[in-house]
Amino acid sequence: MSSPTVKLNSGYDMPLVGFGLWKVNNDTCADQVYAAIKAGYRLFDGACDYGNEKEVGQGIARAIKDGLVKREELFIVSKLWNTFHDGDKVEPIARKQLDDLGLDYFDLYLIHFPVALKWVDPAERYPPGWTAPDGKVEFSKATIQETWQAMESLVDKKLSRSIGISNFSVQLIMDLLRHARIRPATLQIEHHPYLQQKELIKYVQSEGIVITAYSSFGPLSFIELDMSSAHNTPKLFDHDVIKSTSQKHGKTPAQILLRWATQRNIAVIPKSNDPTRLSQNLDVTGWSLEQSDIDAINGLDLGLRFNDPLNYGIYIPIFA
Ligand SMILES: NC(=O)c1ccc[n+]([C@@H]2O[C@H](COP(=O)([O-])OP(=O)(O)OC[C@H]3O[C@@H](n4cnc5c(N)ncnc54)[C@H](OP(=O)(O)O)[C@@H]3O)[C@@H](O)[C@H]2O)c1
Repeated sequence: MSSPTVKLNSGYDMPLVGFGLWKVNNDTCADQVYAAIKAGYRLFDGACDYGNEKEVGQGIARAIKDGLVKREELFIVSKLWNTFHDGDKVEPIARKQLDDLGLDYFDLYLIHFPVALKWVDPAERYPPGWTAPDGKVEFSKATIQETWQAMESLVDKKLSRSIGISNFSVQLIMDLLRHARIRPATLQIEHHPYLQQKELIKYVQSEGIVITAYSSFGPLSFIELDMSSAHNTPKLFDHDVIKSTSQKHGKTPAQILLRWATQRNIAVIPKSNDPTRLSQNLDVTGWSLEQSDIDAINGLDLGLRFNDPLNYGIYIPIFA
């Protein structure tokens, strides 16, 4: 099974379905990446912050060595962490991340959050996280314009084929588009039936930027983190609308949630540690929900966000 692709404004084709690498444990990561490539995944969504890029690189290297895939058939995504927003810090960290991955270019490199934090030397702490060891948040003065210009120079130097953003609001994107020499190819956002962000998606798609949804299963990913709001929210898989749509189409609730996105040209990057679920999550194109199914799921919006720094006890209210 493989995924269809979507054309980016950079001219490159991006798989509509990929594999998410957040919370993939270091000891199993290389094997999981290898297994995912074997199952047909071509896009891998990683980040400095996930702390597993060396292992991701090992899985990729083994799959290439064994002839499962060629580098140019893969679509490798990574992200710039908040502590590397200063203009002169972007290229060095991108090069370190590429080195960890054993690659010479990213297919797509995203600004992970519109939050500039004080630089942390990777030799001292890596990945650096949100706070200093004493729990304090220390900001940098880098503007999004300064960071974006450094991102653009990664494209000029062929270190990344496309560049994009994540967790940005419409206000920030409007500002970014006023100065961008290279437009963002994608915006990656939390998106599931409980957090639909309809106007953000409409605006961004109208600007020719592809949306990638993360945490497509809503609270599930955050139950793993023991987040109280996730524990207190009914699971999407148990919701009557999702369950009945699942029975109607003979697909799992997970597949319904992913198809609800891909059918609207929104890319998805589910993460699974389980081989059966991993294959199942790839089978979310090539069959269709009816408009009435989509309308019913559209009716579940609660404006409920889980991946907010505030929910991790960090006072950076970017989504206020
Ligand atoms: N840009 C950002 O700020 C940001 C933030 C969050 C996530 N992301 C990206 O988005 C990716 C996906 O989001 P996510 O990791 O939050 O969570 P997710 O993919 O929505 O959910 C993962 C959870 O769902 C379970 N699961 C996966 N497939 C399943 C299936 N078919 N049936 C039942 N359960 C299933 C997994 O358990 P098992 O592993 O046991 O199957 C895990 O508990 C991340 O890995 C990361 O790459 C980006």
